[in-house]
Amino acid sequence: MKTFKTVEQCRAALRAARAGGATVGFVPTMGALHEGHISLARALRSYCDIRVCSIFVNPTQFNDPRDYEAYQVNLPKDQEMLEAEEVDFLFAPNVTEVYPEGYQTTVSVNEISKPFEGALRPGHFTGVASVVTILFNIVEPDVAIFGEKDFQQLTLIEQMTRDLKMDIRIVRGALVRDKDGLALSSRNARLSAQGRNHALLISKGLFAAEQAFREGQRTATALAHIVRASIEKMPEPVIDYIAVVDDSTLQEVQTVRGACRILVVARVDGVRLLDNIALPG
Ligand code: PAF
Repeated sequence: MKTFKTVEQCRAALRAARAGGATVGFVPTMGALHEGHISLARALRSYCDIRVCSIFVNPTQFNDPRDYEAYQVNLPKDQEMLEAEEVDFLFAPNVTEVYPEGYQTTVSVNEISKPFEGALRPGHFTGVASVVTILFNIVEPDVAIFGEKDFQQLTLIEQMTRDLKMDIRIVRGALVRDKDGLALSSRNARLSAQGRNHALLISKGLFAAEQAFREGQRTATALAHIVRASIEKMPEPVIDYIAVVDDSTLQEVQTVRGACRILVVARVDGVRLLDNIALPG
């Protein structure tokens, strides 16, 4: 795997590959890689000839600068994981390479940015949409993959590529769970052993709601209540939101018709844990 630090190096290598007829697949990340990220790279194999991953901790998507300062990336470890998955290129620029002095442009996706994570983390999605646009302009992928774990982010990117007529296929990467059901996240490392057990009540609630859906329950409040009841078994439950939404517009629904999702965010040990489950249409 070749690692590039500059836009120029990355563009030159990819243009050469493309000139030889190769199609390019892209996995943008902020490092701290785990099996969830690697599963995205793996899923891209069948869509393209060359796979490019980026590792860039994007300061503009952190609404709390302390979180940005605390965000830890171990580049050699991440590189090793990508090598093992035989990813072809890694683009790992520094902040000034992406945002040189005088930088002043942002990209906002209006409606999808407003609820849920957008309401709780002002500016977050403008940071995400802007950096993904920059990375797309550098890598020029034919196809890019985003995980269903960050479901609002995924729908935002789908909307943005449609609206801006970007000629990039967006693939949805399946959410990966540990054997016990916990959705994989770099944040899980911050959970205590007891916290981890409590966190399992989130996925248990989602599985129970999905089961109720399979048995015919279509009322959003009833499905959300099943998730809430499970999380409320925690000693001190903190729920940011539970919502039943349309799978592509992210609009809240009252009755499940067509493909929908249950989104949930709860805090355990002070760690915000995002999870969701599909209710197939
Ligand atoms: O999901 C992430 O890791 C980030 O939000 C992304 C898409 C790489 C943009 O910085």
